[in-house]
Amino acid sequence: MKIPAVKGFRDVLPEESTRWNWIESCARRLFERYNFREIRVPIAERAALFAHSIGESTDIVEKEMYTFEDRDGSVVALRPEGTASVVRAYVEHSLYRKEPVSKLYYAGPMFRRERPQKGRYRQFYQLGAEVLGRDDPAIDAEIIVLVDDLLRELGVARGRIEANSLGCRNCRPAFREALLGYARTRVAELCENCARRLEQNPLRLLDCKNAECERAMAEAPVMRDYLCAPCRRHFEQVLALTARAGSAVVVQPRLVRGLDYYCRTAFEVTAPGLGAQNAVGGGGRYDGLVQALGGPDVPGVGVAFGLERLSIAAGEHRAEPALEFFVAPLGPEAEGEAARLARRLRESGVSVEVESASRSLKSQMRRADKLGARYVLILGEQEIGRGAVTVRDMARKLDFPCAVALSESPEAFLRALRHLGCERPATGHGA
Ligand code: HAM
Repeated sequence: MKIPAVKGFRDVLPEESTRWNWIESCARRLFERYNFREIRVPIAERAALFAHSIGESTDIVEKEMYTFEDRDGSVVALRPEGTASVVRAYVEHSLYRKEPVSKLYYAGPMFRRERPQKGRYRQFYQLGAEVLGRDDPAIDAEIIVLVDDLLRELGVARGRIEANSLGCRNCRPAFREALLGYARTRVAELCENCARRLEQNPLRLLDCKNAECERAMAEAPVMRDYLCAPCRRHFEQVLALTARAGSAVVVQPRLVRGLDYYCRTAFEVTAPGLGAQNAVGGGGRYDGLVQALGGPDVPGVGVAFGLERLSIAAGEHRAEPALEFFVAPLGPEAEGEAARLARRLRESGVSVEVESASRSLKSQMRRADKLGARYVLILGEQEIGRGAVTVRDMARKLDFPCAVALSESPEAFLRALRHLGCERPATGHGA
């Protein structure tokens, strides 16, 4: 009986997984260079956490969460994003008492029950970073520059960072009223969803991808005209600092985000080639969130990238051959020696594959070639007899009788390879 994977949940096969590992390790290295440290938060939370943070009247909370009643009656949800969980953990462990500023990053699966299509899945992976404890524009700019660094490092062609200011609790109410006033005059043109949410959350109307709603809202007021002086100054400084650091940011006055916790700086990162799902990442400032989740009044700002979308948008990854040694034992006599040699080499940090001793040398060579091995270590009767392997350099198509006895240390063996004109293989996969 064939049982296929659940719709929108996909397998990541080894080739794609290699690419993901490259992207993930670039992001992790970058986060650490910016002095972020990793936090691992659970994939399930109380559903109320997301309603209180992302917002009751967002698509994510209204329609897309995987929510279920646990056996003890509590209502649990698979996390649709990481920020709420990081803030929950920050409050739960009183991290604000331990350090004035926390810079935390995370990587892992998120779940949203959206309609699956290219670059949009129901289980997807995010790489995210959050700064808690700083409200100055320099840190918003630092996050945006980090975004730019990642795009460059991954070779994302024509990546674009768009930003807007969403104002604060002082200036947004007037904008909300103006938007509401405008939307009421166009309610007949709005989709059912927007018409229903109109009074509750008019900002959501700016986020609707329905063509008629977009048309109806094209002339709507923009937040820029309602920003209070401190918000305006904050945004100008963010833009000046990112420009000074050499990152290009396009101001997009209609940009809003699909989550309600944002204030002031909000941004989205797009790349061509992704179809309708062109956002590879997004983020912004969320100053009221820590307090809304029961903590002190600590500001926050962050970003998250979608790994699947980064993988589509990133440039070519020229990986080093993943496999350094392929041990080719010929006949049952050689089997034990092959396993012993492989283990010792692996212990010294190189990657090794051992083939079955029952296959011919020719078929073993074919497989070594297919796996992209750098060297084949041939262990036949003759080699066992003299206690040393024959080394085939796969790139140069040359065989060398190795002078180092099998009983010697793997380090001596690797040294001997260098004497033969073979480079010492890099340690670790793909290094
Ligand atoms: P978001 O814009 O909802 O923001 O998601 C961030 C990124 O996750 C998107 O730009 C996209 O690349 C990816 N993504 C979202 N949904 C899907 C999906 N169904 N399939 C594939 N990829 C997807 C947040 O989640 C915020 N927590 C970001 C943030 C961090 N803001 C402040 N700190």
